[in-house]
Amino acid sequence: MGLFGPIKPLHRAEEDGKALAKTLSWPHLMALGIGGIIGTGIYTLTGVGAGLAGPGVIVSFALCGLVCACAALCYTEMSTLIPTAGSAYTYTYSAIGEMAAWVVGWALILEYSLACSTVAVGWSAHLVGWLQEGIGLQLPAMLLSGPYAGGLVNLPAVFVALSVMGLLLLGTRESATVNIVLVIIKIVALGAFIVLGLPAIQAGNYDPFMPFGFLAHEVGAEKFGVMAAAAIVFFAFFGFDAVSTSAEEAKNPGRDLTIGILGSMGVSTFIYMLVAAVAIGAVNFNEIAGSGEPLPHVLRTLGYPLIASLVGGAAIVALPSVILVMMYGQSRIFFVMARDGLLPKAVAKVNAKGSPALITLLTGIFVAIFAGFVPLKKIAELSNAGTLIAFVAVALSMIILRKKMPDAPRTFKVPFYWVVGLFAIGGCIFIFSSLPVESQLFTLIWMVIGLAVYFSYGKWNSRLRKGT
Ligand code: ALA
Repeated sequence: MGLFGPIKPLHRAEEDGKALAKTLSWPHLMALGIGGIIGTGIYTLTGVGAGLAGPGVIVSFALCGLVCACAALCYTEMSTLIPTAGSAYTYTYSAIGEMAAWVVGWALILEYSLACSTVAVGWSAHLVGWLQEGIGLQLPAMLLSGPYAGGLVNLPAVFVALSVMGLLLLGTRESATVNIVLVIIKIVALGAFIVLGLPAIQAGNYDPFMPFGFLAHEVGAEKFGVMAAAAIVFFAFFGFDAVSTSAEEAKNPGRDLTIGILGSMGVSTFIYMLVAAVAIGAVNFNEIAGSGEPLPHVLRTLGYPLIASLVGGAAIVALPSVILVMMYGQSRIFFVMARDGLLPKAVAKVNAKGSPALITLLTGIFVAIFAGFVPLKKIAELSNAGTLIAFVAVALSMIILRKKMPDAPRTFKVPFYWVVGLFAIGGCIFIFSSLPVESQLFTLIWMVIGLAVYFSYGKWNSRLRKGT
């Protein structure tokens, strides 16, 4: 028993009859990672970030990439050391204790579920824009946004969330294969954007480079500056951590997880730096600042309307892969929390295909409700906040377990682990402090609610506490 409740022994989670089926190998995991990473962040939030930081948004991308690379290293070590489905939640359970693990699991709901909702809303905007620009089809405005924008419900967002849920219910293996196809489409579209935009870069567009300064500072209810943009475009980088939630389903966890997490992170960061440099360099940043579909917008400005439609179309076809990966990750985390007794056990039941069906269903409905009724930027900020908390916990757990169990079997070890771990922790705290105050407060309230749930249910039903 530690300061934060009981500590879960390593590997305890794989129990007879309740383990998930081992169906995935490294190409699936790498595609799962890229599928989770490349999405609304680069396709939509590049424009939002440019509006907050100017050309300096390139620095925002680089900083987030650096912090996330350190976090990815920590995730890789932890997921090979503890290859079970619960990701950051399970690592915290084994390193710090049950109460801290619950708090992290609760933060992961923000990360995974709200990332799904965010991407669903981003997808909806792309679809609507594409229908209007491409074939002149106007959909009824009431069905395109929630009450926050004078509408009724964002119906396309609800539709895509529930469709992906249906796909997941068909089974993990099938879903991961569909995901590989979507990932290829996404990369080809971004590649086309880079190739066409690169020759159009004008040095003058990078000047002034940081019109709003570096540190996040409030202007009304909004924060501006390179760090304020970092707090938003951070959304573009996570998703690799969903690979770790599939650890229990990997055939050869040591090799598959290392390649899956570090490979997907490396490929995505490389592509992002190029896309950001091109998007900002090819047109004045003010051009894309307000755009919901900045990449097609740049291409249209450069005189490539057809390619712009194709890139927009690729976003429509491929963004659902992010929802797929994130919803998959969320259902696995709920599954493990229920298996540990911190959530009702009935929901942890695995179906004939080895997937937790009831949890997938509940997650899908939760995601659809947020997607239908909450605005994009708000959900993205909250999703970032939840992710930052999880990243801090994973880096901390990595350092603690290195100290407590230096000889435990690790197929991957973070190099210079003190430096990398502390940089990840410090970077995440810095990014969190750059979020709008309103979102920081909401996150705090969410955490307090989580603790209330823990003390009224989880603490009394925990399998570790009961010794079962
Ligand atoms: N990184 C994911 C995205 O950009 C969540 O959509």
